[in-house]
Amino acid sequence: MDFLEVIKKRHSVRKYDGRPVERELIERIISVAETAPSSKNTKSSAFMIVDDADTIAAISEMRDRGSAFVKDAPAVIVVLGDETRTDLWVDNCAISATFIQLAATDSGLGSCWVHVNGRPRVSSDPDSGSAEDYLRGLLGVKDGLRILCVISLGYPAE
Ligand SMILES: Cc1cc2nc3c(=O)[nH]c(=O)nc-3n(C[C@H](O)[C@H](O)[C@H](O)COP(=O)(O)O)c2cc1C
Repeated sequence: MDFLEVIKKRHSVRKYDGRPVERELIERIISVAETAPSSKNTKSSAFMIVDDADTIAAISEMRDRGSAFVKDAPAVIVVLGDETRTDLWVDNCAISATFIQLAATDSGLGSCWVHVNGRPRVSSDPDSGSAEDYLRGLLGVKDGLRILCVISLGYPAE
């Protein structure tokens, strides 16, 4: 797809047609994300592919708002940042996540960014625990790796 066509075509897609996403496609998307620039070339971003339906359903419960639709996504990419490599892990992750969304569009997939970093589980209750801690436990994320966001992936419903 032409570059400007990808840019124009990308939009947040939250409804999927139920088809699974081919593993090769997800790996291609991640290989694009790995070309993203990073502060001092620290390459602090890391990616976790999740395509197990039960785990995706549990991910969708990380927040009371803005994440429920993830339940019906056939795959998600968790975008992680190594905070031991750079204080700019958030910035690096955000660029990586953007590359993921553009590569998904180029692959004929819909995607949506679901934010994790700094978000409470219950939006009206800052003491409800963090979405990040919930996901860290669920996914077994090791110390030093932080989670910026989750990108849902799937063939658009329409
Ligand atoms: C930093 C960031 C956080 C976002 N968080 C969420 C989210 O938690 N849930 C959601 O459904 N969409 C989320 N989005 C998607 C935005 O709502 C969406 O990009 C915006 O409304 C513009 O629509 P478009 O992507 O179709 O251009 C997020 C996007 C960004 C860039």
